[in-house]
Amino acid sequence: MLSNLRKFGQTLIRRNIKTSSVILSDNLFVHRDSPEDNPDVKFEFTPENMKRAKAIISIYPEGHERAAMIPLLDLAQRQHGWLPISAMHAVADLLKLPKMRVYEVASFYTMFMRKPTGKYHVQVCTTTPCWLRGSDDILDCVKKELCLEVGETSKDMMFTLSEVECLGACVNAPMIQINDDYYEDLTPEDTKQILDEFKAGNKPPPGPRNGRYAAEPVSGLTSLTTEPPGPGFRLQDALK
Ligand code: FES
Repeated sequence: MLSNLRKFGQTLIRRNIKTSSVILSDNLFVHRDSPEDNPDVKFEFTPENMKRAKAIISIYPEGHERAAMIPLLDLAQRQHGWLPISAMHAVADLLKLPKMRVYEVASFYTMFMRKPTGKYHVQVCTTTPCWLRGSDDILDCVKKELCLEVGETSKDMMFTLSEVECLGACVNAPMIQINDDYYEDLTPEDTKQILDEFKAGNKPPPGPRNGRYAAEPVSGLTSLTTEPPGPGFRLQDALK
């Protein structure tokens, strides 16, 4: 903390300047060559995915093919399970872009996993709305059930645990994301049940766990409770 003393009239003013704390992400943003992630590790899109990649690129107008970068990185990650540097190079080659353009995007978005990731990627949201609704207990439960700390992957490569920022389902807080699915309105008991199902090789149905269909009020409708008025409502007579 730096302090700054300044005289203002007869009053001595002390102004504190605080720097924010450095919070380390559990994701990897700086590439370091490793046996499983270096430019010599071969990555090629499967014929099926190559067809899909070309279809994605064709959506964009000529000269703007680079807009396909995120969908292509996502495709590469889905094929490989995570995103090695050689997959980034394959995307750069496909889009005829300098590799650096791809590194910039892949290292910016936390959805791109830059290290080997378990079959089930469990992402626990701990941003304010989820936190106010008990996400600390959900995170503790996941850690205990999977015997993992945040950022770790189980030895059998089944689970990876991440702590993430808001996933846009705050109305159903607290929630977790496992691969592409959201599990919402959770209690620690629900969370344990969900993880047990995954451990047993089953996929529990995603969505809210408190009986809601989606994000409607738990205790019934509070607005739009009457039939909406028809066309012409409150229209002046001269216009009818
Ligand atoms: S705060 Fe958790 S989904 Fe928005």
